[in-house]
Amino acid sequence: MLDKIVEIRKDLEQSLETIKTAKDLEEFRGKFLVKKGIIQKLFEELKTVPSELKPQIGKEVNILSKFAENEYNRLKEILSTSSAETSYIDTTLPGRTSYKGSFHPVRQIMEEMVEIFKSIGFDVAEGPQIEDEFHNFDALNFQPDHPARDMQDTFFIKTPGDTNNILLRTHTSPVQIRVMKSQKPPIRCIMPGRTYRNEAISSRSLAEFHQIEGLYINKDVSFAELKATMISFSKKMYGEDSEFRFRPSYFPFTEPSAEVDISCYLCKGVGCRICKNSGWLEIAGCGMVHPNVLLAGGIDPNEYMGYAFGFGIERVAMLQTGIDDIRCFYENDIRVLQQF
Ligand code: PHE
Repeated sequence: MLDKIVEIRKDLEQSLETIKTAKDLEEFRGKFLVKKGIIQKLFEELKTVPSELKPQIGKEVNILSKFAENEYNRLKEILSTSSAETSYIDTTLPGRTSYKGSFHPVRQIMEEMVEIFKSIGFDVAEGPQIEDEFHNFDALNFQPDHPARDMQDTFFIKTPGDTNNILLRTHTSPVQIRVMKSQKPPIRCIMPGRTYRNEAISSRSLAEFHQIEGLYINKDVSFAELKATMISFSKKMYGEDSEFRFRPSYFPFTEPSAEVDISCYLCKGVGCRICKNSGWLEIAGCGMVHPNVLLAGGIDPNEYMGYAFGFGIERVAMLQTGIDDIRCFYENDIRVLQQF
């Protein structure tokens, strides 16, 4: 009988090696472990063994039976947690990461600004990035010898035989003229978009940037309304506790003109590197629309008046994100962009 046990163990071990699927395992159980299976038969045969041999043979049968059961349970566990082909999971392999995209921070901030202006009654208009000298300069009351027209400030696109010089717009103000020509007052409109200047590239300026232009034209428009609009927008954008100041300035297309400063977000007005120790950051230019501009847009300046403003979006984006080098927005370094 001991020989028989050895024989069965050999058979059992061979069977174990061929088990690959749950079906193989079930066959194994049917052969060895069920009531009428080989091991149970051994236990029955044990009854016929002479009593002096019973302890030794009984022990062997028990060992075999335990071995078969343990192997069955072990394989069952493995097969239930893996596919039929692979019999184990490598838990040391790195997991699969899914990457989530998002809008560029400049785009996000532009949209946030547009939403705030929409909520206070402004429509949205757009104009071409490739403009002509008339819309970009003449119609905006720039004198023919104004230094901004210089090649050093403006990217001209040479078009031989064209009397009206074509250029990359240096600001979003030409869209004011296009809106005036295509709409009747009252006009209340913002014009976001990309602009270009032939600037020396530094941490504060780029040759390509974005602006949001604003225009309001009606019968009675006051500078106080302009101020109120600028402040209520900026408080929504930067928080109720931010402070503003209006500095007298000059633009050919507005009279009077002003520049709007916000208290520096970083040092809270004390003075730091970002605000060049002044405690203030310039965020927009604005003023009352010059009568010559209304005329160029086909609007009678004796009947209508208006205000206009222009925000630099990258400047605002720097304030919002705390990025202190404007070039970071355009280097497309995923480690920077991923944060927004
Ligand atoms: N276009 C001006 C600039 O680019 C900003 C501005 C817009 C100023 C509207 C006044 C009115 O600097």
